[in-house]
Amino acid sequence: MKFFIDSANLDEIKEANELGILDGVTTNPSLMAKEGITGSQNIIKHYKKICEIVDGDVSAEVISTDYKGMIYEGERLADIDPQIVVKIPMTKDGLKAISYLAAKEIPTNCTLVFSVGQAILAAKAGAYYVSPFIGRLDDISTNGMILIHQIVNIYTNFMFETEVLAASIRHPMHIINCAEAGADVVTCPYHVITALLHHPLTDIGLEKFLADYRKGNS
Ligand code: E4P
Repeated sequence: MKFFIDSANLDEIKEANELGILDGVTTNPSLMAKEGITGSQNIIKHYKKICEIVDGDVSAEVISTDYKGMIYEGERLADIDPQIVVKIPMTKDGLKAISYLAAKEIPTNCTLVFSVGQAILAAKAGAYYVSPFIGRLDDISTNGMILIHQIVNIYTNFMFETEVLAASIRHPMHIINCAEAGADVVTCPYHVITALLHHPLTDIGLEKFLADYRKGNS
C-alpha cells in the first residue's frame, strides 16, 4: 500500500519524506489556501517545490468546473513536472476531462468520490486514481470504509487498472482498515501518519531498557 501525505505544508512534506515512508502527495485548493498560497503563478511555484521534495506522484487540482477549462488547466498543470497527477472532480465535465487527459496519457486523480457508481465511472473514463472520501462520509453517519471495500472488490472483479486512493483519512484505524480492504493508496494528514508510530508500551519499554543500561554502567 502506498502512503501519500495530504498536505501543502512544505515542512510537513519534508518531515514525512525524511521518515522514508512517503510515496506521494495530494493537495487540494483548501490545503493550498491554508498555507496562504494564492494566484496561479505562486501555486505553480509551490507545486514545483513539492515535486523537488518528494519522488512520487503529486496531485494538483484544477479550479475550473467546465470541460474546456479543466483540460486547459490540466495540461498546464501536467507541464509543471512529470510527477504531477491532475486532480479532477467527479462531475459530468470532470469525467469528460478525465477521458480526454487519459487519451493524452496525462494521469488523473478523480476526486470527491462518494459512491460506488461514481467510482465505476471514474475507472471507465480512465482515471489513474480514484479518491473516495472516507472521513466526510463518516461525518454524515455513513460508513466510509464500506465504500472502500466495495470499490476494491468491483475493480478486482473487472480488472480495472484505476488505483483506489483512500482520502479524507481522519485517524490511524482508517489507515489500518484501508490496508485490510486492499486500497492501493492512503493519503493522510501528517498527524495521522505520526499517530501510527506511537505506542505506550514502546515508550515504557525504551525507558526501562535505558534505565537498566544506566544502572549497569554507573
Ligand atoms: C484528498 O485528496 C483530499 O485532499 C482530502 O483527503 C480531503 O480530506 P478532508 O475531508 O479531511 O478535507
